[in-house]
Amino acid sequence: MIKAVRGTRDLLPPDTALWNYVEGVVRDVFRAYNFQEIRTPIFEETTLFARGVGEETDIVSKEMYTWEDRGRAESDRGQSLTLRPEATAGIVRAYIEHKMGDRGLNKFYCIGPMFRRERPQKGRYRQFYQIDAEVIGPPSSGSESPARDAEILEMLATLLDRLGISDWNLELNSVGCPNDRAAFNEALRKALEPVVEHMCVDCQRRAVTNPLRVLDCKVPADQPIIEKLPRISQFLDEPCRTHFEAVQAILKAVGVEFHINDRLVRGLDYYTRTAFEFTHGALGAQNAILGGGRYDGLSEALGGPAAPGIGFAIGEDRLILSLQEKIPADSVLPRPQAYIAPLGAGMNGEAARLARELRRHDLVIELGDETFRLKKSFEAATRAGAKYILIVGENEVKAGTFALKNLATGEQVSVPRAELISKIRA
Ligand code: HAM
Repeated sequence: MIKAVRGTRDLLPPDTALWNYVEGVVRDVFRAYNFQEIRTPIFEETTLFARGVGEETDIVSKEMYTWEDRGRAESDRGQSLTLRPEATAGIVRAYIEHKMGDRGLNKFYCIGPMFRRERPQKGRYRQFYQIDAEVIGPPSSGSESPARDAEILEMLATLLDRLGISDWNLELNSVGCPNDRAAFNEALRKALEPVVEHMCVDCQRRAVTNPLRVLDCKVPADQPIIEKLPRISQFLDEPCRTHFEAVQAILKAVGVEFHINDRLVRGLDYYTRTAFEFTHGALGAQNAILGGGRYDGLSEALGGPAAPGIGFAIGEDRLILSLQEKIPADSVLPRPQAYIAPLGAGMNGEAARLARELRRHDLVIELGDETFRLKKSFEAATRAGAKYILIVGENEVKAGTFALKNLATGEQVSVPRAELISKIRA
């Protein structure tokens, strides 16, 4: 038997109803903040992620699905392509390619699958879904302002509250600018020198190539060493400190609670200044429901103009996991309002005509088959979760009135054709 590949999964009904419900709420909230949808390709040139996300990150060095393309045309051959592990690099590429900075400040969002070859477990998959949003524009558009950081964070708090996830925790930090980071990296390098030989091989390599990434290490034995390393908060320059304080002041003004966590550096290299994660207790080990931050130099790193930006990605799989107990998928699944049961040979056509008319009025209709006996129709209607069963037999068609039975109460009424829509809708 052929099964879904390890780390991938099928999303089936009724669960897909919960996914749709969540995406509906997300789109409503994003609309209120004037975000617009962008859709970028699922695969891109490998260089985009190597340069954007960073060669030394776990994502690029270990987790990408990369292949060499082998099309017929000379131009396709040998090109290294990668399934997107995240959305930000592709969106910034599109921003540069289409000169979207000409429009001033852009507020994008996208919803779709991402791919990382991680060890699968609850809340961690190799194909997973992100709800991603980005605010990006030329410096003259105000894209650098702490007001944008605070707006994004307040929007996330509103979204999670609206979905009924109240027990979230916002972890906030500033990872500074390239200057601060150079000093921080230097301090890390120095602090690591005497101890790095006791650390894992990845850390030994990172201590040389990109010491900041040592802070991502998950090896338990390395943690006591990491705990004693310098903290980025000690290296912020004056503008970064002021920016960070301004973000916090707005959050306090709008009443969004947060915790400062100066160990939070995030697993992608493009971050500058504000970095954050929202965690949720119910998720267990994979408790980061979303993460994001500022990336003021990313556009330039990809060959574009100066375009400060900030964004986040929600792990939709994790969001759904934390919602499943609160909102049973059945409660948001649209059930048929009526099941139409053709009764007797030759009634399929009449039943289809009636179904067409009712569906045109936006009623949810399930349609049976004339070969079903009445008992089988009732069983099918009940299994479909229909509210009513509507019998379409020769007598009913002749008389122009139909038997409509409420499957929950058992109440049956005779309804003239013209009144069917209002009766079913009521
Ligand atoms: P990230 O922290 O790598 O950030 O991913 C964001 C969220 O995606 C995580 O908090 C988690 O909920 C979810 N996620 C990540 N990997 C997996 C996985 N293997 N299975 C299930 N869920 C997962 C980014 O991707 C950045 N692009 C976010 C961003 C946007 N920063 C600025 N703009």
